[in-house]
Parts: sequence; C-alpha cells; structure tokens
Amino acid sequence: MKTRMTELFGIKHPIMCGGMMWLCKPDLCAAISNAGGLGNITSANYKDGKEIRQAIREVREKTDKPFSVNLSLLPSFRITKEMYQDWFDACVAEKVPAFEISGTPVDKFFGPDAIKRAHDAGCKFIHKLGSVRHAVHAEHAGYDAVIAAGVEEGGHPLMDDVTTMVLTPRMSESVKIPVITTGGIADGRSLAAAIVLGAEGVMMASRFMATKECRMNEKVKQELISRQEFDTLLYGKTIGFQGRAMKNDILKQIQDMEAKHATLNELAPFLSGLRQTAIWDEGDIEAGLMPVGQSIGLIHDVVSCKELLDRMVKDAEALLKGSRLK
Ligand SMILES: Cc1cc2nc3c(=O)[nH]c(=O)nc-3n(C[C@H](O)[C@H](O)[C@H](O)COP(=O)(O)O)c2cc1C
Repeated sequence: MKTRMTELFGIKHPIMCGGMMWLCKPDLCAAISNAGGLGNITSANYKDGKEIRQAIREVREKTDKPFSVNLSLLPSFRITKEMYQDWFDACVAEKVPAFEISGTPVDKFFGPDAIKRAHDAGCKFIHKLGSVRHAVHAEHAGYDAVIAAGVEEGGHPLMDDVTTMVLTPRMSESVKIPVITTGGIADGRSLAAAIVLGAEGVMMASRFMATKECRMNEKVKQELISRQEFDTLLYGKTIGFQGRAMKNDILKQIQDMEAKHATLNELAPFLSGLRQTAIWDEGDIEAGLMPVGQSIGLIHDVVSCKELLDRMVKDAEALLKGSRLK
C-alpha cells in the first residue's frame, strides 16, 4: 500500500504509532518499525536528553528502519521547559527520522528556527491536531505532515470535539501536506475508511497496547479486550484541558469533582500521569486514569505487531477493491 505517507517516511505500511507515555519504549518502537510501520518512542518516559539518546540508540540496535519520537508540548505538572529543550536538542543531535508533536507548535515553543534546524539534521515533523485552523498553521510553519486527531482518540483530544469522520476530509481539503488520521482506528476497516476520507494513512495508539511486544501487565491487555466502545469518557473540560480515559473509579471521582467545580489544584493529584505506572506494571486498573480511545471497542485479540499490520493492510486493500470482509 503506497501512499504519500509511506513515501515521506520510507516505510512499507501507512501506519504509525502515536506517543504513549510509559509504553512507547524501544522494544515496541522497533517491533512496529520492523513490521513495516513507523514506531514511536515517547520523550516523557525519560528524565533528560541523555536518557532519550540511550533509548534512541537502543531502537537503532533493534531496527534499521525509520521511527518517530513523540514530544508532547502540553501543560504538565512534572515536565519543565528545560526538559523539553533538552529532549529536542538530543533528538536533533541523534538525527531522529521524525518527530510526532502534540500540543504547542514547535515554531512557537522552541522558536521560529527550530524546524529548519531539525530539517537540516534530516528530521521530519508531524503535528497531531484536532482542528483545521491548527493544521493550516502547521503547514505554514513548515511541518511535513499533520495528523487529524478526532475526538474518539485516547490521550488529550482538542476541546473542539470534532470526530475523525468529519475532521479527516476537512483537513485533507484544507492543506497540501499529507494528512494522517487517528482516533477510532484499530483495523483494516478503519485504515480503508481513512484512505477513502482523504488521509494518506493512520496513526494508532490504543490498538498497539494489545500487542505481544507492548511491555505491560497481561491483565491490562485482557481488560482492553473485554471492554467496549462505550467504556471511555472525556474529563477535564472544566480545567480547559480534556482527556479521554477508560471508565474506572478514579475517572468517576474526577467527574464528580468537576461537577462540583473543583479547582486544578484539587484535581491535580488524581490527574497525575505518575499514577499510571501501577496500571501498566501491576495491572491495577484502579490505580489512576488510564488513557485509551473509543477504539477499545475494536480490540479483540493480542497479536504481534507484524500480524496486526499485515492483517490491517490485507483487509484494507481488499475493502478498497470492493470486497466485503467475512
Ligand atoms: C496509554 C496512552 C498514552 C498516551 N500518551 C500520550 C503522550 O504521552 N503524548 C501524546 O501526544 N499522546 C498520547 N496519547 C495519545 C495517542 O498518541 C493518540 O493520539 C491516541 O491515543 C490515538 O487514538 P487511539 O488510541 O484510539 O488510537 C496516549 C494514548 C494512550 C492510549
């Protein structure tokens, strides 16, 4: 399946992994890249530039294929401006093949020369966005591609709340650079749909959690399979920074507090991403907020990244030729 996305990144399949704090580490990243997609390592896993350089080198020992680094330029209780700068400089020095950016655009965060400096080092830029106006800015700023992130996505969907179904064609008709779709993507049907809507490929995160190479407690993978599409909710609108997470007691508590107009300081201990490590390591799904997209309803098995990507592309190609899946 050749598209402008596969050409841009030099990959076999038009499928990339979105950043996942604590989960997108070298093993999973290399498995996705070796399977023909674009793997991801997420900078927020690492405390400084030195650690991220080590992770990049580990990926390169496991694969000679392209991969991306997620840099989430989002409000954080833990991450400082200096840490972001350190990660960015380390990635440019390592000449990473691509950056997957979320939050503030790179030109506004690191300054107008940042994209040129990284381009000169051979790095490509993709920005994950929930609106056409932000995609237009990214194109003008010099990004190589944009990701249309519909409100179905896990993580932090933009508060515009536009769905993948509408955002993808709107973004595709509004910019010339390739558009990649995310939010609700998990199989060959959604890959085919994304292409029909004008995208050049897809990004997934939740679906990659239920792969053999994702290092997390097996109980969580089984939880993903047992849950359904209505098992996630949005939170955080009252503090101006929404997220989507799986229904659990903490999410219910946060929503109750938001209904009573709790302040950011009151909510902060419940929102902390540090609580998530007990979910992934110990399988305690009540330990914190568990980010996941509505695509959870489309996760039915745990397979290797290669099986997943091969199956998706085979099914999408058949569907695009007019066949129906059995
Ligand atoms: C467990 C998990 C952790 C995530 N962490 C991040 C992150 O650190 N930075 C970021 O930009 N997006 C993060 N996201 C959002 C994903 O990169 C992606 O945009 C979104 O999950 C796509 O929707 P999907 O999960 O339905 O495929 C995370 C998503 C999940 C499920």
